[in-house]
Amino acid sequence: MADDRLIAALDVPTREEAERLVQQLGDSVSYYKVGMELFYALGGDIVTWLKAQEKKVFLDLKLHDIPNTVGNGLCSLLRLRPDILNVHTAGGLRMMKAARDALHAAAEEAGIPCPKLIGVTVLTSMDAEDWAGLGHTGTIAEAVLRRAQLARVAGLDGVVASPAETAEIRRICGKDFLIVTPGIRPVGISHDDQRRVMTPGEAIRVGASQIVVGRAIYAAEDPRMAAESILKEMEAV
Ligand code: C5P
Repeated sequence: MADDRLIAALDVPTREEAERLVQQLGDSVSYYKVGMELFYALGGDIVTWLKAQEKKVFLDLKLHDIPNTVGNGLCSLLRLRPDILNVHTAGGLRMMKAARDALHAAAEEAGIPCPKLIGVTVLTSMDAEDWAGLGHTGTIAEAVLRRAQLARVAGLDGVVASPAETAEIRRICGKDFLIVTPGIRPVGISHDDQRRVMTPGEAIRVGASQIVVGRAIYAAEDPRMAAESILKEMEAV
């Protein structure tokens, strides 16, 4: 049976492929992540369609711009009624605060529940070499923790982070802070471009609130079987 802790990434380019995948997964998956590939192709219609199927939606657009623009951008997305929205923590404390305040005010004015707002810490595809190449001197783990703390101070509901940093974020930010972890690979599945990965069970064990799974589900020969085996692994924790 479905479990909101599993978020399947709808990283496909067309409406037909998205609908086929959602139908194949049926009641095994209740939460979907719509990212830039599908959103840029189809706009908000895909979110509206998922909501009409009674699915929950994490709209993963990783907003990163000046505070005013991010705040207004989130308000525009609110009308789609997503369950989770996100900004990039690299936008800084002021930007995150402005984002949160704008979203809460808009939801209150519209008389609808406010979606959860979370911050992307550092992309799970980054490794130490990528990080140093950007001119950062500290480690990725240090940056992730610092950004998670900033997100909490800004009043965000949680973060997106790699499973590798999840235990420490959980310890520092408390039990109610949402930690959504991509970079999930069941045993024996290719890591692709992800560098900091864990299995679904390990991610839950270290404290993830929700896991995002893309290729390990949508590229599987039998996506439903792949999702069910992930659910079973999570339940066993
Ligand atoms: O296919 P895979 O399971 O690696 O997909 C992971 C998904 O999570 C992708 O949609 C990617 O955009 C997203 N993501 C990520 N790392 C982040 C934030 C989001 O991999 N820090």
